[in-house]
Amino acid sequence: MPWIQLRLAANEETAEKYSDWLSACGAQAVTFIDAKDTPIYEPLPGDEVTYWSNTVVMGLYDASHDMEKVITYLQSIHPDKKDMQYKLEQLEDKDWEREWMDNFHPMKFGQRLWICPSWREVPEPDAVNVMLDPGLAFGTGTHPTTALCLTWLDGLDLAGKTVVDFGCGSGILSLAALKLGAERVIGIDIDPQALQASKANAERNNVADRLFLYLPDEQPELKADIVVANILAGPLKELSQVITSFVKPGGLLALSGILEEQGESLSQVYDQYCQMNPMTVQEEWVRLDGIRR
Ligand SMILES: C[S@@+](CC[C@H](N)C(=O)[O-])C[C@H]1O[C@@H](n2cnc3c(N)ncnc32)[C@H](O)[C@@H]1O
Repeated sequence: MPWIQLRLAANEETAEKYSDWLSACGAQAVTFIDAKDTPIYEPLPGDEVTYWSNTVVMGLYDASHDMEKVITYLQSIHPDKKDMQYKLEQLEDKDWEREWMDNFHPMKFGQRLWICPSWREVPEPDAVNVMLDPGLAFGTGTHPTTALCLTWLDGLDLAGKTVVDFGCGSGILSLAALKLGAERVIGIDIDPQALQASKANAERNNVADRLFLYLPDEQPELKADIVVANILAGPLKELSQVITSFVKPGGLLALSGILEEQGESLSQVYDQYCQMNPMTVQEEWVRLDGIRR
């Protein structure tokens, strides 16, 4: 079915109200995009959704909808009346799911690690292949913060090691560590849905018997050889003591989810626990890693 998309300029105060207006005028779906391309990370469970300062609210209408009537009505209630900023676009009638699947390819990290969607042929059957389809939890490998951790894991000798994956999301780093030879992985996440996703993904990769999953208030006391934490700079700073307490002396730690300008000060926080290496940069994100003192 062909669609018409109405884009309406908004800001953080007006976005929700405009979204209600578009729905009330018969939109089949309403979405928000950041007009300034500000990076967004996923909100924590229970967090209120925050709207960016320059937002575009988009309503999707079926092509037979009377858009003239919608625009006239919106202009009558909009604070800027005739100066209301909007754009109407005809969307091509496509199989969106098919197109999205066509664009998602196996990705290689480091020397031997591949993340492969299930509908694609595995490019190197003898390599270390993690089978993973995008789902509800964060972590497919396409985001630089995940990629920085996957490349780091690929460069380690994980045979027989215990790994903690703090903020496991989809379980992508846990699965990579297990397939790269780790003996067991402890995955921790604040989001119960992430733990479910990690479990299901581990089952699909036949490593579920070596993955142990916990919410933060249930997490066990243990010392691991390797700890990886891809959360945000704020929680990484707040939780520095908790996260480093999981690393045994001489063990390795990697931190991700950090914007380049946050790297230096966070490295100083962790320097009291670990001997930190120079940061590794990918796009505007950095990875910090070091050895527990
Ligand atoms: C950016 S995702 C990382 C997912 C995956 N590890 C990856 O590298 O792609 C961050 C994950 O950390 C979880 N998280 C955020 N704050 C946390 C906290 N304080 N304790 C445990 N998990 C947390 C989120 O629920 C989310 O699943």
